[in-house]
Amino acid sequence: MIITTKQFFKIAYSKFAVGAYNINNLEQCIGLFRGNLDSQAPFIIQISKGARDYTDKSMLEAIIRAADKLFPEAIFAVHLDHGDEETCCDCIDSGFYSSVMIDASAEEFEKNVEITKRVVDRAHEKGISVEAELGELGGVEENIAIDEKNAHLTDPNQAKEFVELTGCDSLAVAIGTSHGAYKFTGSQGLHFDRIAEIQKHLPEFPLVMHGSSSVPQEEVNRINKYGGKLEGAKGVDENDFAKAVPLGVVKVNIDTDGRLVWTAVHRKHFIENPENIDFRKPGKIFMEEYAKFIAHKNEKLGSAGRLEQVRKALSAVY
Ligand code: 13P
Repeated sequence: MIITTKQFFKIAYSKFAVGAYNINNLEQCIGLFRGNLDSQAPFIIQISKGARDYTDKSMLEAIIRAADKLFPEAIFAVHLDHGDEETCCDCIDSGFYSSVMIDASAEEFEKNVEITKRVVDRAHEKGISVEAELGELGGVEENIAIDEKNAHLTDPNQAKEFVELTGCDSLAVAIGTSHGAYKFTGSQGLHFDRIAEIQKHLPEFPLVMHGSSSVPQEEVNRINKYGGKLEGAKGVDENDFAKAVPLGVVKVNIDTDGRLVWTAVHRKHFIENPENIDFRKPGKIFMEEYAKFIAHKNEKLGSAGRLEQVRKALSAVY
């Protein structure tokens, strides 16, 4: 069942965070559904602009619709990750997405407000939730690289004003994380004091933590052991999620970790089985390992075991 992120956030706020996982292909989709059902967790499927272009946006949509039928128990939102205005409008008009992110955070405050407000108005007409971003994360997203030195944390005063002016449903905040496998270079770290300050200005308002892959060292080591080169890769301490939840973080974005699991499984498989050309063999291993990874992440987010609670809350409202 597809629901909006806003519906999730109402139920989850200050109790648990919902995992928002990026997918690009069939194997990730199956692993994602299995892992969430194994751990009885609600979840958010994230589709980036790059994922929509990888084959064609209609392919990913068809795969997700098929998974929804295969796993009727699942409760999830379908969310556009880091959209520009044009892509947001396309998703809003598609009738498939239940949530979009408009990312105009690279613009000046006024311009960010202007673009975000237009998307919010259009999305809300159709009952679709909108995530916006204020502040700038470091790392690489959709081929745009932002040096951590140039990234800047979200200003709590501005955040309040931004939410009031745009009417967005949730806000991605820059709190020290960055996209990709190389986080926290130099003195960077997760700024809990900043999240607390933002929550003070925006009580009860859903906050989103981007760049939340933990970059598991086992996976990095496995990749390097089988010929990869990921020296010095580092991520978020997954035990920090539990500290962020009471501060208003309800959505945690994870993309890089999924790529690491995929790369580790495939590198290992083909090095150990040089004669194999049946890609379904590592594909199967990947789906199993990715499902386990998702279930583990949901334990850390507090979303594991919440599926029934969400179902009950939804049926009480409708
Ligand atoms: P990671 O690169 O840490 O997985 O972050 C992904 C993300 O925030 C997508 O919006």
